[in-house]
Amino acid sequence: MFDIRNITETEAAQQLEFLAKEIERADFAYYQNDEPYLDDASYDKLRRLNDALEAKFPNLIRPDSPSKRVGALVKSEFKKVELKVPMLSLADIFSQEELEDFILGVKRFLNSSNDIVFTSEPKMDGLSFSALYINGIFARGSTRGDGKIGEDITENLKVINGFPLYLEKDVPERFEVRGEVFMSKEDFLALNLKNENEHKKTFANPRNAAAGSLRQLDAKITQERNLSFIVYTWGEVSDIRWKSQVEFLDYVAALGFPVNPYNKVCHNDKELLDSFDRLMMQRSSLPYDIDGIVYKVNDLELQKRLGFLTRTPRWAIAHKFPAEQAVTRLNDIRVQVGRTGTLTPVADLEPINVGGVLVAHATLHNEDEIKRKDIRIGDMVVIQRAGDVIPQVVSVLKDKRTDDLPEFQFPHFCPECGAHAIREEDEAVRRCTGGLSCPAQAVERLKHFVSREAFNIEGLGDKVIEDFYKEGIIKTPFDIFTLEHRNKPSDLFSSTPSLELEKREGWGIKSVKKLFEAIEKSKNISLQKFIYALGIRQVGAATAYLIARHYHSFNTFMNAMIQKDLQLLISIDGVGPAMAKDIVEFFNEEHNIFIICELLKVVCVEDFKGIENTDSEIFGKTVVFTGTLTTLTRNEAKSKALAYGAKVAGSVSANTDFVVAGENAGSKLSKAQELGIKIISEEDFIKIIS
Ligand code: IVH
Repeated sequence: MFDIRNITETEAAQQLEFLAKEIERADFAYYQNDEPYLDDASYDKLRRLNDALEAKFPNLIRPDSPSKRVGALVKSEFKKVELKVPMLSLADIFSQEELEDFILGVKRFLNSSNDIVFTSEPKMDGLSFSALYINGIFARGSTRGDGKIGEDITENLKVINGFPLYLEKDVPERFEVRGEVFMSKEDFLALNLKNENEHKKTFANPRNAAAGSLRQLDAKITQERNLSFIVYTWGEVSDIRWKSQVEFLDYVAALGFPVNPYNKVCHNDKELLDSFDRLMMQRSSLPYDIDGIVYKVNDLELQKRLGFLTRTPRWAIAHKFPAEQAVTRLNDIRVQVGRTGTLTPVADLEPINVGGVLVAHATLHNEDEIKRKDIRIGDMVVIQRAGDVIPQVVSVLKDKRTDDLPEFQFPHFCPECGAHAIREEDEAVRRCTGGLSCPAQAVERLKHFVSREAFNIEGLGDKVIEDFYKEGIIKTPFDIFTLEHRNKPSDLFSSTPSLELEKREGWGIKSVKKLFEAIEKSKNISLQKFIYALGIRQVGAATAYLIARHYHSFNTFMNAMIQKDLQLLISIDGVGPAMAKDIVEFFNEEHNIFIICELLKVVCVEDFKGIENTDSEIFGKTVVFTGTLTTLTRNEAKSKALAYGAKVAGSVSANTDFVVAGENAGSKLSKAQELGIKIISEEDFIKIIS
């Protein structure tokens, strides 16, 4: 662990800033996208470091500190639910020593040398839920969300097999039970097999499958999936009729709620330690994933005395299992190309059962990782499945390496399109420079090309682009502008048949005509939109605007780039050396120039027109956007602000003039309030720019 003994205040502040961002990113991936990329131990290290630094420097606690938050903000599509009693998280421990420290800590807090009775409960690896019953009738279901505001999943819970809609016995008027929704290993495998056959998305593990199935706006989809649930705690209860955790579990079991049959009562420290070893042995034979054990002080009076830290109770803790491992042969290393051109190595494995889940692929992260671990095709490797993250190759069993296996050579050319794959000095990944002509990137880039802030072609939505690409109708941006010609009825002299777009399902003469009109209109494009449309790495709408303002015409810009005139580019406030390098790189790939030249035959790139309105309220002012905008995209809003002569900043400071606050605005909004900065809504902003 990071040594904080000699850390200075400035270093601590920097570390805390880094941790706030990193933990937020990890939370977002885990809670919002159901695609975590950190394993629990690494995540926990970040959290602990944050806590330790905050304990040492309480004056540095940030308004956006992760210690003030559980989980992530909720997705906006779901109705929000206010949780009267917050759904908290548990602190994690990973070793026996830490468990002993926990028990000691509890005793010390209670000033007791006697044994404390705990429950030990399998820690279900699913998605927590809260279900409120009013007068015994199921009224409202929620996910954890950020702990205080959850997502309304009432309809989804109703369709889970065996979920009680009415409670027959007399129960408290307001009675909220909480527990976990999960998918059994068997159902997870069956679902993935079905999805694979139907060419649909497969899930990395049962937890993600459960989360993806429960958080569906359309409850019919939830119903089609086999989900299970158990209850382990409570939330808002108008009249608590139990005195301990065990009594609560018995109470809900009698009402017909499923509780975990492996829950145990531990009367002394030894029983507590034994329960861990026992469950660890049983773990892989259980029909569902568990990722540890939760220990809870049994007596409610003692729980009350122990109370809570900011986001976790002092009376409970989660003891996490180490990741499950297995040994298998690595049959191949494939290099995949992501939509931004990142080359990612993937291990094809001899399929193996790891803790009940069949694993056939594992991530190898990047080329350094392969080198560092000296992973070769044909090796026997140790793989690990750490609950939520994609299986990883941990190490190679070198003594099992019989043949003289050659070292793996990471390609320096894109396996999809053959363009150079380059790696920046300070970067871990290698990227394809093929840009617009690389098929792996083409579809995503085409979507970007026609998007609102770029060519803005209505009628070419994501699905249409995907279909047209698959069928070879649009392969490059240029093909968009020949569509109309290729759709003309064929005559005796034409060599290719008409596309007959109007005969496609869901299309007609009217919609085809509308599409061609939109394409025609898009041919006159502003310089900033054209630069943005090219999809150069790191060049968003705001940067494209700065470049346009600086060079005024596309020819001047392109010539400077071809001549690799980095100096001038870097002199633009807002363009750093790394971004400048990417831009120059883009213009020095022959195929990009070819595509641009083709485009310039059909589109007219207007010279930069200057600021649209120097009288506007935001002219010369610094604007910060925060929260989710509902009418404009973030990029659109930024480029509009720039076009009206504003500067756009990423964070709020004393120099900020306006904060445009969208939905779910968080720490930036609070900071603006603290500093007394003018806050306007998206609506107000639209008025200013229209
Ligand atoms: S008790 C105040 N009991 O673990 C604490 N949680 O890291 C309330 N979990 O959000 C939670 N099995 O999703 C509790 N037997 C169990 C659990 C359990 C799994 C999950 C739950 C919670 C997370 C905390």
